This record gives sequence, C-alpha cells and structure tokens, in this order.
Amino acid sequence: MASNVANHDGSATTTPAETNPSNEQPVNNNDQTVNDSEVFAPDDFLADSNSYYNNAKKYWSNVSPTVDGMLGGFGSISFIDIRGSEQFLKHLYKQKPAPGRKRALDCGAGIGRISKNLLLPLFDHVDLVEQDEQFCQTARTELADYGSKLGTVFNEGLQNFVPAQGRYDIIWAQWVLGHLTDEDTVKFFNRCAEALARGGMIVIKENFTTGNVVDVDRTDSSVTRPLLQMKQLLKQANMRVVKEQRQTSFPKELYPVYMMALRPTLKK
Ligand SMILES: C[S@@+](CC[C@H](N)C(=O)[O-])C[C@H]1O[C@@H](n2cnc3c(N)ncnc32)[C@H](O)[C@@H]1O
Repeated sequence: MASNVANHDGSATTTPAETNPSNEQPVNNNDQTVNDSEVFAPDDFLADSNSYYNNAKKYWSNVSPTVDGMLGGFGSISFIDIRGSEQFLKHLYKQKPAPGRKRALDCGAGIGRISKNLLLPLFDHVDLVEQDEQFCQTARTELADYGSKLGTVFNEGLQNFVPAQGRYDIIWAQWVLGHLTDEDTVKFFNRCAEALARGGMIVIKENFTTGNVVDVDRTDSSVTRPLLQMKQLLKQANMRVVKEQRQTSFPKELYPVYMMALRPTLKK
C-alpha cells in the first residue's frame, strides 16, 4: 500500500481541531515560529539518497498502473480529491496577477490521473513528469484522446528533472514530495520557480503528520512530513504560501491532506 496516500497504522489523525478556520486567508510562512520549532526527522533513512530513490523505484515498478494502484487501494477517493483540487484552483484565479491557462506540469504524475481529470480540461497543454516507465506509457495511452493538448511525458525523477524556464502557469505536485529528500525538495522548488510563467504558481497537495515527527515508510521509501517542516523547506526555497487549504471529506483513517499554492518570494 502506498503510504504516500494512506495512514499506515490506521489511526485517525484527522482531528477537526487541527483545521485552521482561517485557512482561506493567505498564510505567512515567514513566521518566526517556523524557525524555532524542532522537527524530529530520521537521520539514517535519508542519508543515502541513491538507495532512497532506487527503493522507491523498485516499489512503484510492482504497483499496478491503475487509479487504485496510484492511491494505495483508495481509488474511491479520487473523485472527491479532484473536486477539492478544482475548487482550490478556481480560487487561485482570483489572485492578482492570476496564473495563465496555457500550460501546466503534473509532477509525479503516475498514470496521469490528475492530468486527465483536472489539468487537461483546464489548460491548453499539459506536460507530465513521472519516474516509472510503465506509468508513463499508460499515461500516454490513457491521455491520447487529448491529441496535441497532451505535451511531453517526461520519464524522469523529480530530483533530476529540470523544467524549461518560464514555461508553466501551474506546476502541480501531489502525493510525491515525500519521495524526495529535504535537500532535493528545496532544489526542486528552486527549479520550479524558474520554470513559472508570469503569474504562475506551484501547487502542492500532500499528506502531513499532525505532530512534529516525520513518519517513515521503508516499504515505498517515503516520508510523511509535519506541516511545519514543509514550511521550513519552503522558506529555505524562498517560496511564499499564497493560499493553504485542507482537503475535506477524506476517510478518517487517512493523513490530513493540505493543498498549498506557492509563489517565489523574490519576483523575477
Ligand atoms: C502516490 S502516487 C501519486 C500519483 C499521482 N500524483 C496521483 O495523485 O494520482 C506517487 C507517484 O510518484 C511517483 N514517484 C515516486 N518517486 C518519484 C520521483 N522521485 N520522481 C518522480 N516521480 C516519483 C511514483 O512512481 C508514483 O507514480
């Protein structure tokens, strides 16, 4: 099971008390508390990044190229997930400057579930980047009906992928950043910042732990980070949170899932 999606121990971590009632407001991730709080991360697990990435590669090569496979057996939440993302994206277009609608990038795209149901209907062109060759092939087949709207499906790990400068209005990364080391996550954000078109934004949608401990999954070689830690990484990457919202209506046994829209702090 892809713990990237589900909570391993099955315990209910989604407590309403953790939902920020003001989460419709822009979030200041430069808050001093971000610096001062300690996050307890496993030092040994991420030490050898080559085996970290190779183990994940091996894990995903044995997962079936289906929606259920992508979501660790929780294929039934796909509809709610996409609806939540649509609403979130809609709000982003009220920002000034609003992102364009020309080109989106789907990161850690799997078989193209998000491209198919969210991005391709909304953007003129969509590129995908995914480390697993079989998933890339499935995405190319599944999305073939979109003709030239489907751009390039890059078969590459996000830790190495360099998106073209100034190309994307929206860069979407969902349920994949736990597969990157902290250092590579920051570098990934830096490269994405360069790849944004004017008004563009990066959207991340990930599981988060509720405390300050990083949960490690040695089966699929991933971590689930505390929200606070992600904010520390964003700060290191000079990214600003434009909007943050928790996904509602997911089963109680799943980790809390948050969407965050990001822009580089330093304007080009
Ligand atoms: C939980 S699935 C999510 C797929 C898709 N984002 C979705 O929500 O349907 C995680 C995906 O990330 C991919 N992945 C894992 N490590 C990656 C990496 N380092 N670079 C790019 N993709 C990666 C996996 O192959 C898998 O397709």
